[in-house]
Amino acid sequence: MSQRPEEDTVACTVENRIAWVSFNRPEKRNCMSPKLNRQMKRVLEELEFRDDVGVVVLVGEGTAWSAGMDLKEYFRDNEEKGLGAMRQAQREAYGWWERLRWFEKPTIAMVNGWCFGGAYGPLFGCDLAVAAEDAQFGLSEINWGILPGGGASKIIVELTGFRNAMYHAMMGENIDGRKAAEWGLVNEAVPADRLKARVAEIAGVLLGKNPHALRSTKWAIRRVREMTFDNSMDYLVRAQEAANFFDNDGRKEATRQFIDDKAFKPGLGAYDLNKVRD
Ligand code: COA
Repeated sequence: MSQRPEEDTVACTVENRIAWVSFNRPEKRNCMSPKLNRQMKRVLEELEFRDDVGVVVLVGEGTAWSAGMDLKEYFRDNEEKGLGAMRQAQREAYGWWERLRWFEKPTIAMVNGWCFGGAYGPLFGCDLAVAAEDAQFGLSEINWGILPGGGASKIIVELTGFRNAMYHAMMGENIDGRKAAEWGLVNEAVPADRLKARVAEIAGVLLGKNPHALRSTKWAIRRVREMTFDNSMDYLVRAQEAANFFDNDGRKEATRQFIDDKAFKPGLGAYDLNKVRD
């Protein structure tokens, strides 16, 4: 099955406004080949503005989430072809991770199994991440003689502390889902047989929130990470004003439901999105 057609390297089903997008090379532990990278970008772009999709979940078929970059089809084959081919392959991979980081809709990584090296790119690209307790995370690059590229070195420092990052990258030892949650690589770890249900539960909560507010919130959290405090304050004023351009009615309706109707309490849950007034 090494010649899996490009369009089959990613699978996608939409159920109840949740798009379950899979790395679909289980026989290769879902490692990312140029074909998979190209197809993933297509699939994500197709989902981004669909009205029947509110949340995207990135999962792995079989025993892996993703075993990182394809050492043959991404690295060796392109290195043999030369610099131009390597740069193109990098652009294709980095391109869809970048799309994912700034995706219009909430995204969740459902890490069901192996997660290595380059897979930290899409892991970080997803807004939230839930792992199976027995999933395995590793920066295996050191074990085959390279540094953690493709953003992985940056990502491990961003998501966890300096000492953990250094140990993880230098030792080439894996950590399980529980440890990944402790370190901050994922939000939480649950037993494998509860993973899909827990992710669906989180997605269900997100589907009940104002989608415009979710988009501006997730982008704000990513942007302010790299800003000074004062720049963040300024950015957030401007981002909220820009968000009002897309949806000025939502928060007014929510305020009415709380202050006038006493129909909900924002401290305890979201307002009723389906209630539209003239
Ligand atoms: N690149 C290319 N091929 C890979 C791959 C990768 N990153 N990961 C797995 N494969 C291939 C194997 O070569 C094997 O191919 P084959 O059936 O043609 O021999 C197939 O996927 C199954 O892998 P296998 O090693 O037999 O599965 P396993 O379940 O015993 O072990 C891993 C799973 C993930 C521990 C092991 O495959 C592995 O160490 N992969 C490399 C992880 C890595 O370092 N990634 C690079 C990060 S940049």
